[in-house]
Amino acid sequence: MAIKIGTVFNYLQLPDVSNFPFVIKRRKDGIFVQKGLFVYTESIEGYLIGIIEKIILLNEYFTDALTIKAYNNNNPNILKGLFPSDDFEFAIAIVKCLGVIRFNDKNKKKIDRIQRMTYPASPGREVYVVDEDVLYKFLGFDTEFGLNVGAVKVTNVEAKINMNRLLNKHFAILSISGGGKSYLTSILIEELLTRREECGTPAIILFDVHGEYSYLQNIPELKNKVKIFDISYFQIAVPKISLYSFKKYQDQISNVQVRELSKYIKRLKKEKKNLYTLNDVIESIENESDGNRNTKQALIGWLSELERLTLFGPQENPVLDKMITKQEITIFNLQKEISIRKKQIILDYISNRLFNLRRLNKIPPFLLIIEEAHQFSPEAAHSKAISKPIIEMLAREGRKFMACLCLISQRPKRLSTTALSQCNSKMILNIKNPYDLKHLMDSSEAITKEYANMISSLGVGEMLLMGTVVNYPVFIDIRERKFQSNIEELSLAQVCIDWQKKLLS
Ligand SMILES: Nc1ncnc2c1ncn2[C@@H]1O[C@H](COP(=O)(O)OP(=O)(O)OP(=O)(O)O)[C@@H](O)[C@H]1O
Ligand SMILES: [Mg+2]
Repeated sequence: MAIKIGTVFNYLQLPDVSNFPFVIKRRKDGIFVQKGLFVYTESIEGYLIGIIEKIILLNEYFTDALTIKAYNNNNPNILKGLFPSDDFEFAIAIVKCLGVIRFNDKNKKKIDRIQRMTYPASPGREVYVVDEDVLYKFLGFDTEFGLNVGAVKVTNVEAKINMNRLLNKHFAILSISGGGKSYLTSILIEELLTRREECGTPAIILFDVHGEYSYLQNIPELKNKVKIFDISYFQIAVPKISLYSFKKYQDQISNVQVRELSKYIKRLKKEKKNLYTLNDVIESIENESDGNRNTKQALIGWLSELERLTLFGPQENPVLDKMITKQEITIFNLQKEISIRKKQIILDYISNRLFNLRRLNKIPPFLLIIEEAHQFSPEAAHSKAISKPIIEMLAREGRKFMACLCLISQRPKRLSTTALSQCNSKMILNIKNPYDLKHLMDSSEAITKEYANMISSLGVGEMLLMGTVVNYPVFIDIRERKFQSNIEELSLAQVCIDWQKKLLS
C-alpha cells in the first residue's frame, strides 16, 4: 500500500522540471520523512520519482523578531496557551526529480520504461514513499544475483550491484586515506568469490601494495579460490619481452643501442631455443668482436643495471596462463618491495601479459584491481611511470576483450585523466581535498557542487555509487564484511604494548 507523506505545493518558484516542494504530512505511524528518502508523485507524464534533498521547518510565529522577544521575555508556558505556536510549525521537503516511471500493469509492479522528466509535478498532488521493489528496479540493481555491498541510505533496499553493469566497463574506488577503499574492495571480492558458480564470474587479479588481502587465504570458505604470490619469487621471462620493453624498463638505452641489441636477441632466440637470460645477452655482447665498442659497452652497462633488479630470468614465474582461473583471485603481494620502479616493472609486465593472453582468449575475462593506482599511472608529465601506458591502454581498449580495470586511489587528482575518465562507474567514499573534488567534478558531469559537498561529509562506511553501474547516483551504507581480517583489529596502543614485550623478551 502506498504511504502518503505529503502534498506538492508552490514555494519559491517551484515546482519546476527538476525540483518540486511538498508539505510534509504529520503522521502518527512513525514514518520518518528525512533527507535521502525516495518519493513519487503522479505527474502528467507518469510517476515522477525523486529524492528528498532538503527539509525546511517553518513557523510563522518565529519569523518576526518582536514576537521572539516577547516570547523570550515571558513565561513560555503561559505563552504556549495563548499562541499555539506548535500548531503553526510545518515542514517542507524539496525533492530533486530523478526520472519518470511508466508501468504496464495496474498494480504498478512491472516497469514499462523509465524516462527523463520534461514537465513539473502538479501542485496539489499527493506524494508517496517509493516501494522497495520499484526502487530496486528504478536504481538498476540486480535483486537476484547482484553483488551485495550494503543498503541504499535511508531505506531497507539492499544495494545489489549488477555484476555485468559493473564489470563491462572499468570502475574506480576513490577516497582519502583511511576512507575504506580496501575494506570495500574486500567486500566486492567476497561477493564475487561466493557467487553461485552457474552465474559466471571472471578471474580477479589484485596488486596488493600493503599486503592487506593475505587474510583471504585463511578463510575456510574462500581458501580454494585464493592464490597469493609473493613478489620475491617473481620472474620476467626475458625471451617473452620485446625489444621495446628493454628500452621501456631502462630508458637510458638509446635507439642505436636498441638496434645493436636486436642483433644479439635474434641470435640467442635461434641458439638457445627461447630460453635465455639477461646474463646470456650480456655475455654474447661481450664475446662479439664486431660492432662499435662504445655502443656495446654502454649497452652492457644498462643491461647489467637491469639484471641487478633481480627480476629477469629464462622463464616467467608465476606462469600466468596457468594461474588465472575464473572465479578465483590471484593476489600479487608487493608489500616487501620498496622500489617504485621495480613495482612498476612488475605491474607493467603482468598487465601486458594478461592483456595479450586475454586477446588470444587463453585466459577467462578478468578484473584487474590496482591499489594505489596513482603510483602506477600518474597524471603529471614529469613523473614518468613505466606502467602508465599499459594501464591507459587497458582503460581504453580492455573493455572490448572483457578485461576490466578497478583503479583504487586516495589522490584522484594525481591519477591519469585518461585512465580515470574511462572508469565509467565510480565508488566514491569520503574525499576532503578540494583539488581532488574539483578534478572529479571536471571528469564527471554527474558530480555537481551539491554532490561534491555531500562527498566531503561522508563518514566511514558510506559511499556514493555512480556511473553506468546504476541508473542514478545513489548513497549507500556499506555493509560489514563477512570474513574478518586479523590485521585491522590491532590498535595503535596494542602494537606499542606488543613492541615493548618484544624488547623485554
Ligand atoms: N564499511 C565499513 N564498516 C566498518 N568499518 C569500516 C568500513 N569501511 C572501512 N572501515 C574501517 O576503516 C578503516 C580504514 O579502512 P581502509 O583500510 O579500507 O581504508 P583505505 O581507504 O583503504 O585507506 P588507505 O588509503 O590508507 O589504503 C579500517 O580500519 C576499516 O576497518
Ligand atoms: Mg587501502
